[in-house]
Amino acid sequence: MKKIYDVIVVGGGINGCSIAYQLAKRGRSVAVLEKGRLAGKASGAAAGMLGAQTELTDDGPLFQFARKSRAMFPDLARELEDLTGVHIGLQNRGMYRVAATEKEALGLKTLIEFQTKSGAIAKWLTIQELMEREPKVSSSLLGVMFIPDDGHVDARELTIAFAKAARMNGAEFYEFTSVNDLILEKEKAHGIQTDLGPVYAESVVIATGAWSPFLIKKTGLTLPISPVKGECLSVLTNKQLISGTVFSHGCYIVPKKSGRLIIGATVKPDTFDERVTLDGISTLMEKAKHLVPGIAECELEHAWTGIRPLSEDGLPFLGEHPSYRNLYIAAGHFRNGILLSPATGELIADLMDGKTKDSGPFQLSRINISVRA
Ligand code: FAD
Ligand code: GLY
Repeated sequence: MKKIYDVIVVGGGINGCSIAYQLAKRGRSVAVLEKGRLAGKASGAAAGMLGAQTELTDDGPLFQFARKSRAMFPDLARELEDLTGVHIGLQNRGMYRVAATEKEALGLKTLIEFQTKSGAIAKWLTIQELMEREPKVSSSLLGVMFIPDDGHVDARELTIAFAKAARMNGAEFYEFTSVNDLILEKEKAHGIQTDLGPVYAESVVIATGAWSPFLIKKTGLTLPISPVKGECLSVLTNKQLISGTVFSHGCYIVPKKSGRLIIGATVKPDTFDERVTLDGISTLMEKAKHLVPGIAECELEHAWTGIRPLSEDGLPFLGEHPSYRNLYIAAGHFRNGILLSPATGELIADLMDGKTKDSGPFQLSRINISVRA
């Protein structure tokens, strides 16, 4: 490893790799330092849904940012594939957000109205209309909100593609390299400390997901991000059960290539525990069978967990540290880090280039002064 770079990115998840790609493409010398393996944490655990309209239901800045990021995927998929040969598995058969009760149906119809007004496409399908498209879903459902533009990708492949593309633009990656401390002086970041010694840089980006508060603590800032565990499983089938993603309260089923379905995910707050529990998996199995009964015949493939980074106000932290220049943070993407990764990489690179002055609602200055040490 060299001893000095333009930018050190800490964290080899999807956000660290996307940022590294953008910066390397713009000619910066970049090193990415990852404690374990690239995509070894949340980014390798994700189902890869691009659920801008399924997951985000308020007309806030995150909804706009998510739609912008989702729109970047078709070009990005081509760009990464041309450059690296990696297919990110972009599929666009839409998502069905399920209503199981009259109350849920009413809520979804209101949501469709609001989303349509804001220029997005969403429509209500009765159970009969849904079953014409997806004959294997349960006839006990009331209906669904159909969102044709919410597709999905292979989250791990996308992370690897970002990393490979960054490497092809000169970035260096160091796996199994933990960053233990930040080198700060005169209100400016100068580099980081590893077990192998210091590494210096003009700028440092912290993209360490749910672990971000630990490194930031040194700056006197308590970053309000907490861990939220999610358990998932995958099953295999040689039958066509569903073509679009089925998303309901507490369970989703995402159809991947070669007859693989991802069933997710539990939501367990305030824990870094990465064990898969029988309770978590059996709950998901029951819910999945209720949505698509034929799933009971599928072969169980794997089960796994990941730790989502949840910020206190639900918005990611994207931008420069309020007290230390050249120290950037990109963390707190919670359930949508895969969806938000293209726009996150672009925004952090634009901030460094001075192309964007600030990150508005995602700025770190919004952290309540009372949580600053
Ligand atoms: P991470 O992927 O957690 O990466 C952070 C990296 O930093 C880790 O690899 C870690 O090892 C490293 N690190 C930590 N500390 C240090 C250190 N001191 N030194 C060096 N490296 C360090 N999002 C979607 O958009 N769509 C989905 O369908 C979706 N499904 C999900 C399903 C599950 C079960 C889970 C758990 C999450 C899901 N998400 C989804 C959310 C998404 O996975 C996360 O928001 C996203 O992966 C966060 O990426 P990240 O790069 O910020 O963090
Ligand atoms: N976005 C899906 C999840 O976090 O489980």
